[in-house]
Amino acid sequence: MHHTITPESPVGIFDSGIGGLTVLKAVQAALPSERIIYFGDTARVPYGTKSQVTIRKYAADDTAILMRYQPKLIIVACNTVSALALDLVEKSSDSLPVIGVLKAGAEHAVKVTQNGRIGVIGTQATVGSNAYARAINQLNAEIQVVSQACPLFVPLAEEGFIDHPATRLIAEEYLAGIRSEGIDTLVLGCTHYPILRRVIARIMGPQIRIIDSAEAVALRTKTLLAESGLLNSSSKASTPHLLVSDLPQKFSQLYQLFMGSELPDVELVEV
Ligand code: DGL
Repeated sequence: MHHTITPESPVGIFDSGIGGLTVLKAVQAALPSERIIYFGDTARVPYGTKSQVTIRKYAADDTAILMRYQPKLIIVACNTVSALALDLVEKSSDSLPVIGVLKAGAEHAVKVTQNGRIGVIGTQATVGSNAYARAINQLNAEIQVVSQACPLFVPLAEEGFIDHPATRLIAEEYLAGIRSEGIDTLVLGCTHYPILRRVIARIMGPQIRIIDSAEAVALRTKTLLAESGLLNSSSKASTPHLLVSDLPQKFSQLYQLFMGSELPDVELVEV
């Protein structure tokens, strides 16, 4: 059943958990008047260590939860879902526009690289799917893509180990190989990595451009809404409506780390 879409309809964003708040933050900065519904599947996070079958099942459930709020557009903030299940989100969302972080990040990286060598870091599932390399090579078949899974970055970011010696040590270990590949651009292909951006940038060196897909997604969202006449023209800044599937209290604490701002209410939903 189609729902009525107006400029006042909300923008739906979902992620496997807290990480997509980096995307929410960028969307809010670019589009402060939009009403945003954010769903974080905190009961089932992480997705990045799971199989494609499981990730696709979760993605369909997450989309169904957002659809209850009759959004005008869906943003898949999770790189793992963008890599392995974007088609399913599109199918489950009644022909709404769907924007995935992966494509936005890939496009941005292709624009930025000068030597045609791009590095991508992400979860095991994202890197294993090869979806970034495919998206990049669809835009430019000549570009070489080197990728590296960095699974421990997710818990480190959630622990708030931002400028911590343990994080530096693990980052050195993960990034040593990719640093010697002659890349000039590195895509942060996971929602949590922007939190660790400084450590990553320091290890990669000043000549490497770091791409944060969150900003690319926010710009893409703005363009798409403007083109379809669906920008919310309200002059009031809107607080996001936050939904999680478990531990709303913990979400509240981590919200500070990811957003650096006051906490709105968090609602518990069942998956
Ligand atoms: N949100 C996931 C991603 O961007 C990272 C956390 C997880 O593994 O669920 O890939």
